[in-house]
Amino acid sequence: MTDTAILFENIHANADAPLLSAGMTIERHGGALEPADLHAALAKARLAGIRSRTKMTKQAFEAAPNLLALGCFCIGTNQVDLIAAAARGIPVFNGPFGNTRSVAELTLASAIMLKRGVPKRSAAAIRGEWQKSADGSHEVRGKKLGIVGYGNIGSQLSVLASALGMHVYFYDIEPKLAHGNARSVASLDELLTMSDVLTLHVPSTPQTKNIMSAEAIAKMKPGAMLINQARGDLVDIDALCAALESGHLAGAAVDVFPKEPASKDEAFVSPLQKFENIILTPHVGGSTLEAQASIGEDVAGKLARFIKQGGTKGAVNVPEIDPGPLADGRTRLLSFHRNVPGYLSRLNDAVSAAGANICAQQLETRGEVGFVAADLEGDLPASFIENVKAMDGSIRARLIAG
Ligand SMILES: NC(=O)c1ccc[n+]([C@@H]2O[C@H](COP(=O)([O-])OP(=O)(O)OC[C@H]3O[C@@H](n4cnc5c(N)ncnc54)[C@H](O)[C@@H]3O)[C@@H](O)[C@H]2O)c1
Repeated sequence: MTDTAILFENIHANADAPLLSAGMTIERHGGALEPADLHAALAKARLAGIRSRTKMTKQAFEAAPNLLALGCFCIGTNQVDLIAAAARGIPVFNGPFGNTRSVAELTLASAIMLKRGVPKRSAAAIRGEWQKSADGSHEVRGKKLGIVGYGNIGSQLSVLASALGMHVYFYDIEPKLAHGNARSVASLDELLTMSDVLTLHVPSTPQTKNIMSAEAIAKMKPGAMLINQARGDLVDIDALCAALESGHLAGAAVDVFPKEPASKDEAFVSPLQKFENIILTPHVGGSTLEAQASIGEDVAGKLARFIKQGGTKGAVNVPEIDPGPLADGRTRLLSFHRNVPGYLSRLNDAVSAAGANICAQQLETRGEVGFVAADLEGDLPASFIENVKAMDGSIRARLIAG
C-alpha cells in the first residue's frame, strides 16, 4: 500500500515538502467532505490533514484503519474526537502559534486606527463627508497600552507596541517575563484604570468569561479604547454599547463575538453595528496567508517527524515523547498501549524473546494511554511486530528501520 497523506480544505502548499520527505504521496481535496465521502477517502489514508470544517468523529476514525496520525492545520481541535483518536493510538497535532504574529499586528493596527479616529472619518468619507480635523486624533506614541493576558500574542504585541513608543503594561495570572520595557501590574483593576488602550489576549475560561463586565468597563479611564480580538465571551456587549453611547469609551475594535455566523451565507447582527467609532471584523485576527503558510509547515513537520522518528511532541491527545533521529542499524519499536501495570515489562520480555537488545527506551503516559519508543539492536523475526500487536493492552505498534 502507498503511504498516502490526504489533505482536505486547501491546506497551504508549504505542507508538501515535509510530507514528501517522510515518503508520503499527497492527495488533496479542495474543501471539507460530507461524512460518507470523507469516510471513503480516509480508508487508505496513512496521514490526514484537515482545517476547522472537517468533522473527525469516532465514525471517521473507524473508517480510517490505516491512519497513523491526524494534523489539524489550524489552532483549534474542537472538530476532532480527541478521545476516540487517542483510544486508537492516533496522535493529533495542531499549529497553535502559526497566527500569533497576525493577531498582534491587527491589534496594533486597531490601536492606531482607533486613536486616530479613522473608523468614523472613513465612514464619513465613504458617505461623501470631509471630516478634516485633528479633533480627538492622537498618536499612539507615549500612550499606555494595557494587555490582559501576556501569553504568545500578548507578549508579541508588547514588543511591537514598545517599538512604536507606547508604554506597555500587562496583567496575567501567571508570573511572566516582561519583554523590553513592558511592566506587569498586580491587578486587573490597576490596568483598567491606567490604560489608554486596553486589549484582551486571554483564553475563554470560567474566570475570563465576561471579564469586561459593566463594572470592569466602568473602571476604565474615560476616553479609553477597548480591543477584543481574543474570544467572544470575554466582553459584556451591552455594557460596551452603553459605554460607547455615553462616551465613557472613545472607541472599540472587536473581532470575536458571543454569537458568530456559522458561514458566509448567514447575516452578521450585533448591537455594535450602530457605532462609527468602532472596528468590527469577522474573526479574522489570525487569518492571513502568512499564518496559513506557517501553520502548513509547522503541522506537516510534526506529522513527518512522527512518521520518521515516532516523536509526538506537540500532540494534543497522546503522551508526548521526542526520541530524536534513529541511529543506523537500529530498529525503533513504537507502541501505544493501555496505561496498565505490567505492560512495559511484558513488552521488554517480548523483545528479549526475539533475541534483540534494547539500546534506548522512552515511556510516557497520559490518561489511559501509554506510549513507548524502544531502539533495538539485532535481527528481529518477521513475527515480532505481530506478537507485540497481539499483546494484552496493545493499542497499536509499528517499527521504524534506521
Ligand atoms: N481573533 C483570532 O482570530 C484569534 C487567533 C488566535 C488566537 N486568538 C485568541 O487569542 C487569545 C490569546 O491567545 P494566545 O495564543 O496568546 O494564548 P496563550 O495561552 O499563549 O496566552 C494566554 C495568556 O492569558 C493568561 N491568562 C489566563 N487567564 C487569565 C486571567 N483570568 N487573567 C489574566 N491572564 C490570564 C495566561 O496565563 C496566558 O499567559 C486566545 O483567546 C485565543 O483563542 C484569537
